Amino acid sequence: MPAVTITEREFSQFQRFIYEAAGICMANGKQALVSGRLAKRLAHYQLETYGDYLRLLESRAQPAELQVAVDLLTTNETYFFREPKHFALLRELALEARDKRQTPRIWSAASSSGEEAYSIAMVLADVLDEGPWEVLGTDISTRVLERARCGHYPMERASQMPPAYLKRFCLKGQGSETGTLLVERALRQRVQFRHLNLNEPLPKLGSFDVIFLRNVMIYFNLATKRQVVSRLLAQLRPGGYFLIGHSETLNDINDTLVAVAPSIYRKP
Ligand SMILES: C[S@@+](CC[C@H](N)C(=O)[O-])C[C@H]1O[C@@H](n2cnc3c(N)ncnc32)[C@H](O)[C@@H]1O
Repeated sequence: MPAVTITEREFSQFQRFIYEAAGICMANGKQALVSGRLAKRLAHYQLETYGDYLRLLESRAQPAELQVAVDLLTTNETYFFREPKHFALLRELALEARDKRQTPRIWSAASSSGEEAYSIAMVLADVLDEGPWEVLGTDISTRVLERARCGHYPMERASQMPPAYLKRFCLKGQGSETGTLLVERALRQRVQFRHLNLNEPLPKLGSFDVIFLRNVMIYFNLATKRQVVSRLLAQLRPGGYFLIGHSETLNDINDTLVAVAPSIYRKP
């Protein structure tokens, strides 16, 4: 069967769909990406056009399909110990918390498949061991959250992980699982994952010491970035740290935070 092409009109309807659902601004010219990612859903429902698939979504005849479409239209690239400077800072903060007998609470907002949240957990477990600490990972995509809860990854994702952590916190796959790693159960059980749309009012999650909001603002427009950041800041304790991706900035987005270093901010 020849591949169905997506029309300009259908593409702009999907742009509106993902903007309304997640606040994601999909750039013009991404037709191939959208049609490629959704093609298997057309096949699944034996639909002939992308317009038919949109109508299926809008009809709410298959309510769970909305989440499937959101899952497919989000970009989830991530890996362990991405942007290592943030983990060096986290280590300092964990040492401070240990001296002061505090319980650090860290939030990986837009955690994708969990590598960021588990990297945070490894640093905390290394410094604080069994001591009290909490890590929460949240994402809009349920598909990546399932992967996060499993904690099973291709080994390439761990190329930046300190070898001692790989040895201590991960099991290397054997036989048919060669080339994969499994985050060990004790660490997995200490990290919570939860479905959350940052583009909506958020539930009260308690006050965090550090919030990671990395490599997701790039998908939002200025108004959405401002709203998302102010929602998250309401849950950051005074003196807490707010970390963003190295290619991102809070210029024009928020002026209440103090810039400590590129991509590292602190709430006064
Ligand atoms: C590129 S990944 C970044 C993962 C990780 N923070 C990192 O830096 O490696 C972006 C993640 O943001 C999530 N995302 C996009 N829009 C979102 C929204 N409105 N609410 C929550 N998560 C969202 C996507 O599902 C995706 O998993």
